[in-house]
Amino acid sequence: MAKIGVDIAEARSSLVSGDLVAIPTETVYGLAANALNEEAVAKIFKAKNRPSFDPLIVHTNSIEKVERFVEAIPEKARLLVSKFWPGPVTILLKKKAIVPDLVTSGLDSVAVRIPSHPLTLELLSQIDFPLAAPSANPFGYVSPTAAEHVDAQLGEKVAYILNGGECRVGVESTIVSFLEGNPRVLRLGGLAVEKIEEVIGSVEVNQHSSSRPAAPGMLKSHYAPGKSIELINDFDWNKEIDFSQIGTIVFNKPLKDIPLENQVILSHTSNLDEAARNLFSALRRLDQEAKIKTILVEFVPNEGLGRAINDRIKRATANKK
Ligand code: TXA
Ligand code: MG
Repeated sequence: MAKIGVDIAEARSSLVSGDLVAIPTETVYGLAANALNEEAVAKIFKAKNRPSFDPLIVHTNSIEKVERFVEAIPEKARLLVSKFWPGPVTILLKKKAIVPDLVTSGLDSVAVRIPSHPLTLELLSQIDFPLAAPSANPFGYVSPTAAEHVDAQLGEKVAYILNGGECRVGVESTIVSFLEGNPRVLRLGGLAVEKIEEVIGSVEVNQHSSSRPAAPGMLKSHYAPGKSIELINDFDWNKEIDFSQIGTIVFNKPLKDIPLENQVILSHTSNLDEAARNLFSALRRLDQEAKIKTILVEFVPNEGLGRAINDRIKRATANKK
């Protein structure tokens, strides 16, 4: 169990000493360290059991600070972040030498974001270094959307968990690359593509790939809980089934035959933002419930945050049967 609280001074002093602190953001909790201190950053990879080829996002609280870490910010990138930062979008730009190679896995680009959470913004304003922070989950597992989730899985490995309550958005940030001519979405996330396009015009969207992903961490089987998880449409209802051992994650109405207490309805009102907020805690809850052996999940409408939800569902069900 880690120390959990809302003491920004304590979080700050741990970070200054090169230790790990879990921080709340509007998307998911991050596992943060001083991005300019390689020893501290190495602790992140170790705690998460994350391969060193998977680069980290650098978090700060102002565009002036971002400018210390990146080469020129293209006009469209500036437009995008001036509209949506602090918020659930990360931009990928060419990095300056000051950013350690460990943070970017040796790439010459760096992912940067100003997250929107009052505690974390206050913390960031009180330190003179940026924070490297991946999601605060063991590598390959579901991202945490509450301080308790972090504590359950990484509690032993962090000096402090800054408790900012439940995450408002619930899925990770949308990653937009400005490295080539046209902006390209590398990871669907908490800022809908439609909203991005309203501000900077049409963008390309990477279809998820497992072989040589453009964002190295976007491996196909990610976000997976430990149990058997399948798409409802792929499930073989003809085999002998004990309905009490099936859990479901459904969009707006439960499946008949399955006990109601085994079912998580992401949004009774079919609201995709609410569904995104509930997705990861639903996976976590059913994964932890002993009597449930199989989790069945369905896609949601593929628009707005529904695209990010469906992307996570695809990956959670990728290698599982
Ligand atoms: O919402 C979020 O983005 C959360 C919060 C904590 O900010 N963070 C997060 O970090 O989701 P993480 O490490 O779980 O995912 C970051 C993704 C990874 O897939 C990584 O490969 C990609 O960003 N990434 C980071 N730097 C990159 C780079 N230079 N080039 C390509 N992809 C990069
Ligand atoms: Mg992650």
